[in-house]
Amino acid sequence: MNTEIYYLSGTGNSLHVARELQKKISESKLIPIVRLLNNDVIKTNADMVGFIFPNFCLTIPIPIHEFLKKVDLSSAHFLFAICTRGGSQSEAFEYFNILLKRQGKKLHAQLDINMPWNYPFGKQNLAATSTEKNIHNLENKMQKRLDVFIQYIHAKEEYIEKGIDSNYKIPHWQKVLFSLIPKSFNYVSHRYMYQKLLRFYSDSNCTGCGVCEKICLSKKIELIGKIPVWKEETKCYACYACINFCPQQAIQIESKIPFVGSFTEINGRYHHKSITYKDIAKQR
Ligand SMILES: Cc1cc2nc3c(=O)[nH]c(=O)nc-3n(C[C@H](O)[C@H](O)[C@H](O)COP(=O)(O)O)c2cc1C
Repeated sequence: MNTEIYYLSGTGNSLHVARELQKKISESKLIPIVRLLNNDVIKTNADMVGFIFPNFCLTIPIPIHEFLKKVDLSSAHFLFAICTRGGSQSEAFEYFNILLKRQGKKLHAQLDINMPWNYPFGKQNLAATSTEKNIHNLENKMQKRLDVFIQYIHAKEEYIEKGIDSNYKIPHWQKVLFSLIPKSFNYVSHRYMYQKLLRFYSDSNCTGCGVCEKICLSKKIELIGKIPVWKEETKCYACYACINFCPQQAIQIESKIPFVGSFTEINGRYHHKSITYKDIAKQR
């Protein structure tokens, strides 16, 4: 196998991009990251290795962090990554490279791709941002950018771009703040947030179908007497698969963050239309 593409996807955007990329690289294999996290040792086997994952809170998701701490990349001589995002800038690749540096590696090619938002929290109205027209435009742009990117991959040439097409530029003060605090701060704060400050629950529309339990990438959800329970001791990967794939839109989030109310009852849901909940569940 010449190319291995490791991916993580909560609501299908990154999996869709991974599949589109795979079509353009012969002899490539898609490998779900989450399943590998159970292994004591993870070793790549290809000369060219890629990673596709979403941007969470301006940085990399927890499973990517855990994967990069464990994986042995000695087979890889060309590394590339694609970060799908709702449109804001991120520090994801900076952090990614810090973790790669531990084994003397770095990304040779990196690409941010704007996709529909999947984060039904705060005032983000997913129904309004994921209209057919918006999705169509984003898909066209994504395909064009992949076509450019793939040329560099085939040629094994460097491709590093920054700040293209983002609708939220990280302000200078935030960059300074980021540079002062350890990069792992994001990871720690993220973890704290999903264990202490946000409470997921199912409302009276829940039919006990169990989709959330099957899809939960961190295996945090367990159906007890047909009611989903988010187990306290298991950390949440914050992928939002449960809330976005629930067929009844019955999963809600109660916010305990000061001044941030709970909005999930009114702001819609999103998942990529070509990806089913079974596709997401297969990552486990
Ligand atoms: C917890 C969480 C945090 C997010 N934070 C950001 C962010 O800081 N900036 C951004 O542009 N998109 C953000 N997003 C949106 C996702 O990165 C984007 O929709 C992505 O394409 C989802 O990929 P997936 O469908 O493969 O999971 C966030 C999504 C979630 C669930």
